[in-house]
Amino acid sequence: MKYEKNILCIGAGYVGGPSMAMIAYKCPTCKVTVVDINHQRIAAWNSDDLPLYEPGLDAVIAATRGKNLFFGADIEAGIRENDIIFVSVNTPTKVFGVGAGMAADLQYWEKTARQILQYSQSPKIVIEKGTLPVKTALAMERILSNNKTVHFDVLSNPEFLSEGTALRDLENPDRVLIGYRDTESGIMARDTIVEIYAHWVPQERIITSSIWSSELSKLVANAFLAQRISSINAISALCERADADITEVATVVGMDSRLGNKFLNASVGFGGSCFKKDILSLVYLCRHYGLNEVADYWEGVVKINQYQNDRFIANMLSAMFNTLTGKRICLLGFAFKANTGDTRESPAIVIAGRLLEEQAEVVISDPKALKNAGADLEGIAGKISYVLDPHEAAQGCHAVAVLTEWDIYRDLDFQKIYDNMAKPAFIFDGRNILDHKRLFEIGFNVYPIGKPALTHF
Ligand code: NAD
Ligand code: UGA
Repeated sequence: MKYEKNILCIGAGYVGGPSMAMIAYKCPTCKVTVVDINHQRIAAWNSDDLPLYEPGLDAVIAATRGKNLFFGADIEAGIRENDIIFVSVNTPTKVFGVGAGMAADLQYWEKTARQILQYSQSPKIVIEKGTLPVKTALAMERILSNNKTVHFDVLSNPEFLSEGTALRDLENPDRVLIGYRDTESGIMARDTIVEIYAHWVPQERIITSSIWSSELSKLVANAFLAQRISSINAISALCERADADITEVATVVGMDSRLGNKFLNASVGFGGSCFKKDILSLVYLCRHYGLNEVADYWEGVVKINQYQNDRFIANMLSAMFNTLTGKRICLLGFAFKANTGDTRESPAIVIAGRLLEEQAEVVISDPKALKNAGADLEGIAGKISYVLDPHEAAQGCHAVAVLTEWDIYRDLDFQKIYDNMAKPAFIFDGRNILDHKRLFEIGFNVYPIGKPALTHF
């Protein structure tokens, strides 16, 4: 069959997999191939046990895989045979050398650029799908310009999906952003990518801009989102001291239509693979340009997040008489948010590590993230167990800490949990999802975020 467009995506991760599945689903006249160096991941994409949990993903994969969506490992053939190439490889924080702990590590991205250079025999549109520092597209252009016989257009099309709602976000995005070069071929390339999204996204939500604005907008969008969480978390600390209630404060603030009510849930801290790394990348970029005050401002967002993790542990320790040695503590939730099995940068990793340092015994429960939790905590000294059933996990524990806002935790049988726990029983609600008054009435000592504790002492 002859397809309208032949699309390749390099990188079959949390972005590459779902975003390409959505393109294939909405554009049956396009052929979409997703490749990765991780052959195990590709095998999982081709199996019934997909490599990541995302609500609704199974159905979209079932409707497209083997029809116009293909997962493979032959990167060379993929580059040769497709004229539109999305690059969605990982861009973690650098852990070595110049910029360690701050700058984005561009090694995977650069390897991809070089592979595209090496295997391309016909004109290509290369699209940055990942989140990259401003001017990365220029580096891509410079690498690709070493092939004198093939013309390349480089575009930026950052992805705004959130995990747990990825399919919904992809199907009904607030906006699709395409950054392009204002040249004849740049405009043609832009229009080609607009055509793909126009299959299902209304024209007014497909925005085009300069490449640099596009690259920067993605970093800034994440920085603003994370900033809101750090803002509300900072105020949650004040509420705990001043006997105010963060939920009431957030409701009032959020009713101002200029501010809106989303992303105002105080928590144990934000996690996920992107917020921290993207803000640090923004901070590094500002310092690179000598904008130290701007860098300090944004770095504060990450510092407050660490402070929120620290506060949570400090509260647990002081509530439980300043010793956790030998105490059994149940962590309800290990994923960085609900409806995903992803644990990257999850506050639960920090919390579990600190509890183990205090010689507590940690019991971890999560409906989707136990495998990743096991990998995250591998090699860490101490007593850790993994129990799928939350009631069973809490049995015999001195404390329960809710770290992920899974819906199932709202409806647990807390009377039964209380009856089977050591006394006095503590509950630390790191997501403010439980009915604190009721828990208190059952007998728990209750420690929410940003609200006065309810204790029987
Ligand atoms: P990921 O780690 O889940 O996936 C990246 C994949 O790229 C991995 O499977 C890896 O094996 C593969 N890869 C690395 N180098 C390769 C190479 N040379 N050739 C082929 N494959 C290669 O990462 P992700 O979460 O999908 O993120 C990808 C990018 O998208 C990042 O820049 C991230 O910041 C951005 N982003 C992520 C999200 C999210 O929710 N996770 C949302 C928006 C944007
Ligand atoms: C985030 C952005 O929301 C996406 O737009 C972006 O594409 C993505 O990062 C990315 O670039 O990777 P994601 O990290 O998947 O998406 O999830 P969010 O819903 O943003 O949650 C991030 C963290 O903040 C989670 O730990 C969540 O629990 C926490 N959070 C969120 C709060 O603590 N309070 C809130 O009010 C909202």
